[in-house]
Amino acid sequence: MKDVVKIFDTTLRDGEQVPGCKLDTKNKLNLAIQLDNLGVDILEAGFPISSPGDFESVIEISKNVKNASVCALSRANEKDIEVAAESLRHAIKPRIHTGIGTSDIHIKYKFNSNKDAIIELAKRSVSYAKKFVEDVEFYAEDAGRTDNIFLAKVCEEVIKSGATVLNIPDTTGYCLPSEYGEKIKFLKENVKGINNVTISCHCHNDLGLATANSISGVINGARQIECTINGIGERAGNTSLEEVVMIMRQHPNLNLDTNINSKLLYSTSQQVSDLMGMPVQPNKAVVGSNAFAHSSGIHQDGVIKKRETYEIIDPKDVGVDKSSIILTARSGRAALAYKMKEIGVELTKVQLDSVYQEFLTLADIQKEVSERDLPILLDKQNIKHG
Ligand code: KIV
Ligand code: ZN
Repeated sequence: MKDVVKIFDTTLRDGEQVPGCKLDTKNKLNLAIQLDNLGVDILEAGFPISSPGDFESVIEISKNVKNASVCALSRANEKDIEVAAESLRHAIKPRIHTGIGTSDIHIKYKFNSNKDAIIELAKRSVSYAKKFVEDVEFYAEDAGRTDNIFLAKVCEEVIKSGATVLNIPDTTGYCLPSEYGEKIKFLKENVKGINNVTISCHCHNDLGLATANSISGVINGARQIECTINGIGERAGNTSLEEVVMIMRQHPNLNLDTNINSKLLYSTSQQVSDLMGMPVQPNKAVVGSNAFAHSSGIHQDGVIKKRETYEIIDPKDVGVDKSSIILTARSGRAALAYKMKEIGVELTKVQLDSVYQEFLTLADIQKEVSERDLPILLDKQNIKHG
């Protein structure tokens, strides 16, 4: 039996913080329903104290989301927590996500404070949030750059105050996967009460390591990953939901899985991209337009013979109809014959040889030879077609 890693989606909070990605309540709600159908376990709906619009969005999402826990972000102060609790009052499963920076640099420069005072604030905010909801997640902001011994102390104290989930964010995307994994392991081994709570990975992508760090976290005992669709988020973004989900699915030896219906990944990715006006990079893992496209002759020949020669994911598993063969000047005869067959033309070997020369001339001029070009190639060689 595989262990379940909970998926905490923060597309509507950390993802929406990207300049230009702000959504109004109607669009946030539509996306929240899609994410709920996708099967996320926790949906971070917003940061309610930040604006009346965000407060309103969290209320509407709380009223309408039926399966996922609905979570609202707050800082470690009473006013933030009260507003978060108020915005969650209709949620079936409400969660307050409160916390404070724990790294030396945050303590000194952001708060002009000291370690003892930070622990006090952390404890007080968790205890205060517990007055409103049972499920309280604590984030130790910049945990990635926080000394492990101090981090363990903070974690132990907030567990005593009632935290149900400990979020260990690599806020600046600094950690190496080995370091981040060791951090989680250290907490697992050194924090009293840790086995009664869930450890959560929240990784940013400043060095392109967010996904690797999150996976390292769950290998070392975390059981929740905080992520966004398409990996959108502050600066270089957050851990990409579709990547961590498919890594766990494609690697059965990890013995980990999620509750995500992966067949909805592609449509959800498209919806987020459309609503937020953020194009998905073509080479984006799992959901990019080139993720299942093959254009070089060697790969095309292999894929046509057996898809698995160059694909480790069945496109249908993520909601993409099929792999695609793209005709370019790097394509071979096998791909051309395959595409001709798709338009109903079976070429003999001799015909294929002659059309292929014609094809190469065109492919050197155009970046891509499309289906519309195929009849023209056939006409040039006087080959009959429908
Ligand atoms: O990156 C971060 O540290 C955060 C926290 C507010 C959870 O987004
Ligand atoms: Zn973040």
